[in-house]
Amino acid sequence: MAQNFLPKRVTSLFLVLVVATAIYLAKAADHNLKETNLSLYFQDISAFSAANATVIPVAGIAGKAWTFTQFGTVFVTDDFITESADPNSPEVGRAQGMYVTAGLDGLNSLVMISIVFTNKEYSGSTLEIQGVSKQFEAVREVSVVGGTGKFRFARGYVTFETYSFHVPTHHAVIRCNMTVQHY
Ligand SMILES: *[C@@H]1O[C@H](CO)[C@@H](O)[C@H](O)[C@H]1NC(C)=O
Ligand SMILES: *[C@@H]1O[C@H](CO)[C@@H](O)[C@H](O)[C@H]1NC(C)=O
Ligand SMILES: *[C@@H]1O[C@H](CO)[C@@H](O)[C@H](O)[C@H]1NC(C)=O
Repeated sequence: MAQNFLPKRVTSLFLVLVVATAIYLAKAADHNLKETNLSLYFQDISAFSAANATVIPVAGIAGKAWTFTQFGTVFVTDDFITESADPNSPEVGRAQGMYVTAGLDGLNSLVMISIVFTNKEYSGSTLEIQGVSKQFEAVREVSVVGGTGKFRFARGYVTFETYSFHVPTHHAVIRCNMTVQHY
């Protein structure tokens, strides 16, 4: 009897250790997330009738002006994204998607855009930005809900700030600071 007792205890202790190690490794895997911070500049031209416009209203409530402050207006966008505020600085990618003025009072805009990277480091990868933006506040925070390529399983947030606005050409440079965790 006594001879059998010890090996059984050892066996169950071993099993406990195996399970504990498996749980530890599973938890450690969570901590393998990388964090990437980027500061990018969206070149946004909202002169809707201009040949080089990068944001255009495509739908809205009949009989109302299709403007950023009119509830129900849908804009499609394809801003080019640059490394610095200078529009002639190297292109990092494009911000492709749409904005919908989703607040009845015209203050909030629902942002649904993909950052499609074209630069050397992240080419072929995308990040998905989605959420309501308080479009007239100095700093607008929107969530990052996913990604592809180098940004698989991404989540995080971005802040948008209007860096400059050239009235005659409706050319806004919008700084987008992002913090994303991903594998
Ligand atoms: C990214 O930015 C956040 C917010 O400023 C900061 O807390 C974090 O340490 C930065 N991460 C890296 C990897 O630089
Ligand atoms: C867009 O076109 C307008 C009118 O041709 C021009 O003045 C402006 O510089 C252009 N903007 C950019 C960023 O190319
Ligand atoms: C965005 O990042 C720049 C540095 O790249 C910093 O000067 C600026 O304050 C940041 N903006 C916000 C809203 O955190």
